[in-house]
Amino acid sequence: MPSMYDVYRGHRGEYDRLVHAEDHERHLPEFLRSIVDWRGKTVLEGGLGTGRVTELFIDSARRVFGCDREAHMLEAARGRLARCADKLELRVADNFALPVLAEKADVFIEGWSWGHAVVDGPGPIEPIADALFTQVRKNLVPGGFVVLIETLGTNALSPAAPHPRLAEFYQILQSRYGLRQAAISTDYRFASPAEATEVLGFFFGKAMEEAVRANGTAIVPEWTGVWCGPLPA
Ligand SMILES: C[S@@+](CC[C@H](N)C(=O)[O-])C[C@H]1O[C@@H](n2cnc3c(N)ncnc32)[C@H](O)[C@@H]1O
Repeated sequence: MPSMYDVYRGHRGEYDRLVHAEDHERHLPEFLRSIVDWRGKTVLEGGLGTGRVTELFIDSARRVFGCDREAHMLEAARGRLARCADKLELRVADNFALPVLAEKADVFIEGWSWGHAVVDGPGPIEPIADALFTQVRKNLVPGGFVVLIETLGTNALSPAAPHPRLAEFYQILQSRYGLRQAAISTDYRFASPAEATEVLGFFFGKAMEEAVRANGTAIVPEWTGVWCGPLPA
């Protein structure tokens, strides 16, 4: 079974099977529309992956700069977002070393990407958060808006940070960066219980595979946290 990082380096097709099944009730797009008027905005996205978050706002945005560490993932995003190629610029870049953009962005967004650096460390979490926000600050207009999307649990009955380091990070987003948090239900719906077991097991590993198999259903609960607000000076 590959690690998540192996998936990002070489299994974007399997990754997309996972995200295509997620949020079958479409709560996230509705929420993103409620917090940002995307029309005419210049947006910087980190850890863009195959572009499933980008797809939710790019039609309204004026310009989108998207980064990810893996060219393999960006290749899929290029195909998915081809209809907007004229306003999209994709670059291979780490969340800790974003390029300096020629034009500052109105909004920074990332989905399920910063959390990797937090969980995998090493060391205290506050410096990790500060290093990530430094990359955002250098590219955002003063008072620019930040939207961070991270997990609040897979196959869990209620929303909660699934790792102690994430719990601390989420607290820092609120107390140090003044972002407000919302918890959204973004459940998966697969074609069958067998597909749920296979796809979630491939990405999250053996323990998740066993837990989803034991559920025996094609719908698997997923909780998503969104932290958002203007970036403090
Ligand atoms: C769970 S995927 C999320 C992708 C996309 N945002 C989405 O919602 O489907 C995590 C993504 O973050 C990228 N990533 C992980 N660590 C990164 C880092 N330090 N810098 C840039 N990208 C990173 C991975 O390559 C992967 O594409």
